[in-house]
Amino acid sequence: MRLALPPTSCKVNTPSDLAAAIVQALGDQSGLSWLEPSHGSGVFVEEISRLGVPKRRILAVDLDPVGSPADGLATTIRRVDFLKWAQDTRRRFDRIVGNPPFVSIKRLKQSLQRTAASVPDFDGIAIGRGSNTWYAFVLASLRLLKKDGCMAFVLPSAAEFTNYSAGIRAAVHDTFRSLELYRCTRPLFDGVQEGTIVAIARGYGSGPCKVRRKRYTSRESMIKALAQSGKAAGRECRVRPAKSSPVVLPLKSMAALRLGGVTGDASFFLMDEERRQSLKLPTSAFTPVVSKARHVRFAYLQREVWNELKEADERIWLFNPTPLIIRENWRVRKYLYPEAGGCNREAYKIVDRKPWYQTPLLSRADAFISGMSQQGPWLCINEFPKLRATNTLYVLRFAEQYRQERYMWALALLTSIAQRQIRGIGRHYADGLVKYEPGALGEVELPRLQPNANHRSLYEQAVTSFLNSDLPTAKDIADSVRL
Ligand SMILES: C[S@@+](CC[C@H](N)C(=O)[O-])C[C@H]1O[C@@H](n2cnc3c(N)ncnc32)[C@H](O)[C@@H]1O
Repeated sequence: MRLALPPTSCKVNTPSDLAAAIVQALGDQSGLSWLEPSHGSGVFVEEISRLGVPKRRILAVDLDPVGSPADGLATTIRRVDFLKWAQDTRRRFDRIVGNPPFVSIKRLKQSLQRTAASVPDFDGIAIGRGSNTWYAFVLASLRLLKKDGCMAFVLPSAAEFTNYSAGIRAAVHDTFRSLELYRCTRPLFDGVQEGTIVAIARGYGSGPCKVRRKRYTSRESMIKALAQSGKAAGRECRVRPAKSSPVVLPLKSMAALRLGGVTGDASFFLMDEERRQSLKLPTSAFTPVVSKARHVRFAYLQREVWNELKEADERIWLFNPTPLIIRENWRVRKYLYPEAGGCNREAYKIVDRKPWYQTPLLSRADAFISGMSQQGPWLCINEFPKLRATNTLYVLRFAEQYRQERYMWALALLTSIAQRQIRGIGRHYADGLVKYEPGALGEVELPRLQPNANHRSLYEQAVTSFLNSDLPTAKDIADSVRL
């Protein structure tokens, strides 16, 4: 079968200042071999050559038969499908650099599609037509890298998040000494709006790796930083021994788990939007809350979801005024101290409280848990900083050093090892409900998961299954990123 030409949509040339910065970031040393697997008009090869690398140490491959002046700076092979060539070659390289084609394998012509779809993933299974060509290029290149080799690619920003690249992230973590991800909030290419990142992996075969993510607001600042990274890499990179972190941790050692706020008189302190408006009380006298297990229905809770609860007239306002608001607003004063009725200030939780009108709350709520959900306990991560909960729910506040990893720990609670422990701590009631006490939940030991997986996206998928009573799938998702 005749080899098809590359799709025109994938022929996006890298600007030369970006290519120069990437090549400088990798740096050269005497005798190192270079590979550019998607050479195009040769911008990377020009920059490699500018470092003083002779033609015999650079190999450039491209499917496109149309030559360019840069072809003469490398051993250039054209009209060659890199993915096919990579399967057969015995050559290995110290530096691999490029901007592989971003095109869905499904959209490739037959002769190219078959080879791309058959590239084996890390588990040895073919990646299939559902993947993208850039992913096939990265996998094929990885197999051509020499020990201690470095790789730098321009990739779509989706590379950090797509499901099919979860494996690549895990493998990079295990096999390289360091991974730097440069992201720019502005387009890097003229006329191309799709987000791109530059990924630089160094020290093949010397993992596990340190990952550094860097974000820039201008392409100039990103390019400058990339070139600097090259200077640091030119020196011998000292590798600090990785701090060993325990593999399993009890929930209580990383987070405080408490009952949500106890108002002492829910009919006085809790209200819906309609009531608040009819009393003309200002929102500044309230704390937004979730007050029912059914209010937490998703992997994470954002302000928009809480707004929907508000519009549905759920009880989501906790009257919790400060002395200043009480002084300034007569309606707040009137609600607190009416001529008749009002709050039952003799109630057990209120009588000794100072000030009596403020319900004690955790200073931050990182997640909510229902101790009585049908499916068992799970974390609803709070993405609305002001939001708190009342005592139908538990509130979790992570210690600072674990907060960044909150989605990982939430996912860890769904692993089979955690679920086995959870099965043993439920208290069964006559009506069939199972209750989980905060003390017992705190004892559950959670396994650390692969650090580079997209925990948030995996968690969303796992929670969807979990809440659909499909625990096996939820556990499979969580277990897929066990260390
Ligand atoms: C995004 S362009 C990059 C070109 C150049 N490296 C640059 O950065 O300016 C992708 C290149 O990959 C080439 N290409 C697409 N599929 C290929 C394949 N299967 N084997 C080799 N080259 C391929 C295209 O011809 C195109 O030149």
